[in-house]
Amino acid sequence: MQPIDLRSDTVSKPTQAMREAMARAEVGDDCYADDPTINELERRVAQLLGKPAALFVPSGTMANQLAVATHTRPGDAIACAPEAHVLVHEDAAPARLSGVQTMPIGDRRGFSAAQLLQRLREESTGWPRVGLVWLENTLGLAGGVVWKLDELQAISELARAHGRPVHLDGARLWNAHVATGRPMPALASVADSVSVCISKGLGCPVGSLLCGEQEFVSRARASRHAFGGAMRQAGVLAAAGLHALEHHIERLRDDHRRARELSDALADLRCWRAIEPETNIALFELPAGTDAETLCAPLREAGVLCYPNKYDEIRLVVHLGIDDDALASAIARIRGVLA
Ligand SMILES: Cc1ncc(COP(=O)(O)O)c(C=O)c1O
Repeated sequence: MQPIDLRSDTVSKPTQAMREAMARAEVGDDCYADDPTINELERRVAQLLGKPAALFVPSGTMANQLAVATHTRPGDAIACAPEAHVLVHEDAAPARLSGVQTMPIGDRRGFSAAQLLQRLREESTGWPRVGLVWLENTLGLAGGVVWKLDELQAISELARAHGRPVHLDGARLWNAHVATGRPMPALASVADSVSVCISKGLGCPVGSLLCGEQEFVSRARASRHAFGGAMRQAGVLAAAGLHALEHHIERLRDDHRRARELSDALADLRCWRAIEPETNIALFELPAGTDAETLCAPLREAGVLCYPNKYDEIRLVVHLGIDDDALASAIARIRGVLA
């Protein structure tokens, strides 16, 4: 039995058309800015987001950490949501690489301008200086939740009024764009720098871009070398990105529809509470204190790969590799185990 992999949208494999685009790519040494395909991807993504410049990097984590290193100074704090990827899943990189700590405000669905203001006021009582305000859209651990644009605009205005830079972890900003119909430049306008991943919903094997002002991106480029992320003839990877920008953004709509269908088809199961997905990540909340692994293990045995999002929560993620047939089989297999 072929397993159906719902662990993450990072598990998707490049399509035949994407592989052909990669094989055709013109390449050069990117450390000399000689790779025409990378140069083109950087130009296209910057333009798509309405930012002056972009930098191609190997991962979303590196894009985020370059933003941290470029915006902050040692001793600063990053104000972020408590389940932000940068706080939970980047292995304390802000502390290890930039001497900066993450400090949570709000809840898993983000924070408000009022909460940020309260946090900034605490600086007068000796709390560490917020050197960077951190947004994430969509919010991954919260289940691909879209952070509302008007809330982000209010946060951004407040941060700017206090002279604090704002970074947006937009690993899944494409999903927010498709789910809300808001243009990418509007979604990106709330931040000085934005990271986007092409290796998730867009289905590329590797890669992320960090976008911002020219001067910011030049400094991030120097740090990319220091962090070991400078690549050479990586135009083969950038070609996948160019292909995905052309063919894989609008199709995220299908992922979102399928995630809703998955959630609806499993909502009556008594072992959990299905949380209606806004994008491509369906969450299922177990009774408090239940080890989600006790459900994930038999599901894996039955041919549905998944893992706990939290101790008592399971996530099922829809992506490029899941068509309607795979979805129907996944639902049947899950019901076979849990109904
Ligand atoms: C919201 C968010 N930001 C950043 C990342 C990091 O991306 P990467 O795995 O490419 O380092 C992820 C990865 O899943 C993510 O979900």
